[in-house]
Amino acid sequence: MSRYAIQMKGIVKRFGGVLANDHVDFAVKRGEIHALLGENGAGKSTVMSLLTGIYRADGGETLIHGSTVRIASPRDAMALGIGMVHQSFRLVPALTALENIILGERGQVWRGSSWRKQKLEVIDAICSAYGLQVELLKPV
Ligand SMILES: Nc1ncnc2c1ncn2[C@@H]1O[C@H](COP(=O)(O)OP(=O)(O)O)[C@@H](O)[C@H]1O
Ligand SMILES: [Mg+2]
Repeated sequence: MSRYAIQMKGIVKRFGGVLANDHVDFAVKRGEIHALLGENGAGKSTVMSLLTGIYRADGGETLIHGSTVRIASPRDAMALGIGMVHQSFRLVPALTALENIILGERGQVWRGSSWRKQKLEVIDAICSAYGLQVELLKPV
């Protein structure tokens, strides 16, 4: 097994005429915590958005635990165990707090009320454990 959990190699991303990522390399070993530093517009968010499937790269390669992967959507990223906590909240106003939290599991959201109830209980317990007061069933 590779000593890296994540490897991004030669990542290129353009937005029209703007070259946001110009052959970026980024690697993370299991258990490491990194801070990605750079001036405004340096391309930090773009790299992370590529890793989480929000954008697709124009070039380069991403490996997870040593295997090349294709991350074409946030769902692909989640299936690989990659998550993102955005700097600015990205919430769907019309949905409840609970629905926003479980949005990524949408395939199952509408599956039945018992599944939802179970999720509600789990999230409610996490909120209690951390002293968070969130009205989970109200629209955000
Ligand atoms: N969705 C987008 N459409 C067009 N240009 C973008 C988009 N996202 C980022 N950019 C441009 O790409 C460059 C890198 O942006 P970004 O990754 O947000 O930088 P950072 O997070 O390091 O501040 C900037 O020039 C920015 O204006
Ligand atoms: Mg940013």
